[in-house]
Amino acid sequence: MIPDGTGSVVEADVAEPAPAAGEVVVTVEAYSVNRGETFLLEAPPRGWRPGKDVAGVVASVGPGVHGLEVGQPVVAHPEHSGWAERVAVAADRLAPRPADMPATVAAALPLAGLTALRLVRLIGALPGRSILLTGASGGVGHYFVELATGLGARITALTASRPRGRRLAELGAEVLTDLTAARGGYDVVVESVGGAYFMATWRLLDPHGLFVWMGQASRERPLLDFFDWTGGTSATLRRFDYTASPVSVADDLVTLLRLVHTGRLHPELGLVAEWENTPEVLADLIRRRVRGNAVLEVTS
Ligand SMILES: NC(=O)c1ccc[n+]([C@@H]2O[C@H](COP(=O)([O-])OP(=O)(O)OC[C@H]3O[C@@H](n4cnc5c(N)ncnc54)[C@H](OP(=O)(O)O)[C@@H]3O)[C@@H](O)[C@H]2O)c1
Repeated sequence: MIPDGTGSVVEADVAEPAPAAGEVVVTVEAYSVNRGETFLLEAPPRGWRPGKDVAGVVASVGPGVHGLEVGQPVVAHPEHSGWAERVAVAADRLAPRPADMPATVAAALPLAGLTALRLVRLIGALPGRSILLTGASGGVGHYFVELATGLGARITALTASRPRGRRLAELGAEVLTDLTAARGGYDVVVESVGGAYFMATWRLLDPHGLFVWMGQASRERPLLDFFDWTGGTSATLRRFDYTASPVSVADDLVTLLRLVHTGRLHPELGLVAEWENTPEVLADLIRRRVRGNAVLEVTS
């Protein structure tokens, strides 16, 4: 799948990938699509192809890679180009996948799961802490709510509608469809919608709380006013980037796979389709019609 110049993708024949030193080529069985990739598709870098979340099997192994065999099931987080039948991935961005874990389930893990896991790590101790999460009905939100409630946090999740928050409620979150119903005084706010939601949620933060700024799904810039910062008057504001991590992608993928395999983390597959439907699925994601992750099956 290559950028079509209109913010979506189109099928095309591309060069067969070959593994460089330290890389493996993965035969892709399923991939998932992420909102951040839809932003890149609006103005794609020259030569770039989308695709950061794949599950499949090892097709070939480059020099210097040990412990991986051809045919081995894996999940991987390539830098790009994963919406394809095969992709080259650095070996430190991939982990062996349990043979009984379907590729569709594993493909939903990397970007959203790594983000949620690393958010938990950034926030620190969770038992008893109250957390307000915006943009909660997507891939990151479902993983974060399950991980954080499991560690004892009290999550308030903002979604567009009750049906979009149904699974979040099952996972233990208090689901709101309107910020005016939020009680305020949250220890932590995790904000990813942008625009007016930034200041509105800052005002709901404990004066000494932690505000994690992690996205702008609305594409609207927050407007900040120094003199309007009621709520978190002396709070900490952290810009979060999931790629800045003290733990490697491979190690965090191993953790996520273990949590899923032992029944403690459940990827929310809101939409599974054949990969020729990628343009339609991207449109659904952009229009907020996907709950959790959208996954495409690659059937060559
Ligand atoms: N900083 C980082 O490193 C990092 C990493 C990964 C993701 N992110 C960001 O974190 C956010 C969540 O990621 P995700 O993969 O879970 O995204 P996602 O699946 O698209 O979920 C985002 C959610 O935001 C909500 N939303 C509210 N207002 C919106 C608007 N105007 N336009 C679009 N969505 C809106 C939607 O839920 P409702 O329809 O229920 O309101 C949507 O389900 C995104 O903004 C993403 O770009 C940041």
